[in-house]
Amino acid sequence: MSTKLSVNINKIATIRNSRGGNTPDLLKVAMDCERFGAQGITVHPRPDERHIRYSDVRELKPLLQTEFNIEGNPREQKFMDLVFENKPAQVTLVPDVLGQLTSDHGWDTIANKDYLKEIISEFKKAGIRTSIFVSPDLNMIDGALETGADRIELYTESYAKDFFHDREKAIAPFRVAAKRANEVGLGINAGHDLSLQNLNYFAKNVEGLLEVSIGHALISDALYFGLENTIQLYLRELVIR
Ligand code: PXP
Repeated sequence: MSTKLSVNINKIATIRNSRGGNTPDLLKVAMDCERFGAQGITVHPRPDERHIRYSDVRELKPLLQTEFNIEGNPREQKFMDLVFENKPAQVTLVPDVLGQLTSDHGWDTIANKDYLKEIISEFKKAGIRTSIFVSPDLNMIDGALETGADRIELYTESYAKDFFHDREKAIAPFRVAAKRANEVGLGINAGHDLSLQNLNYFAKNVEGLLEVSIGHALISDALYFGLENTIQLYLRELVIR
């Protein structure tokens, strides 16, 4: 089994928006990521549209050949409408709060069980795979199962932060969480602060890792290595060695 690389292109939109024009061209970058080997494209529109705009999602949808993953907070009606209108391969539900710099916490799948169950059943009816963003906490994994989600996305910031200091300690909760998810039949995605430095160790130790979505580090690396080469470098890190 190989892990898919989904490139999060939010940063490209951030650069574009800083000048008001269409440079860099988000649609071209997305298609080039696919041409260079990415197996998916991820976008995370937020209500203030400070990076990905809702119109970007509509324009991307007919162009993409690989898995389209739309992330966001389902409590925003505009987000829900956008997902149902564009029917991506996957929706990743994230409990963002307004004005948050980046995603910084996973769902409390116990407190939000009924709510998540209800909206996930709507996505299922529309044929959209669902993934919910969670910390590597066994209670949250068990709660995720009860919501009916197809997958979890493990929130990897703590892993990335502790990786250089003590990689074995950093990966430990993720190994345990993955074991539980595999036992109960939840698919496993992961994301946040994954990089060329920490990706291989993560993929090697998290059994059944289906997909990683990576934005910040990958786009930053592309400044030095070029986008095509960078995508190849990330794909190489996903090969277990
Ligand atoms: N997963 C989620 C839910 C996110 O919000 C983000 C950041 O937008 C990522 C993954 C990707 O994180 P990074 O940009 O650090 O690779």
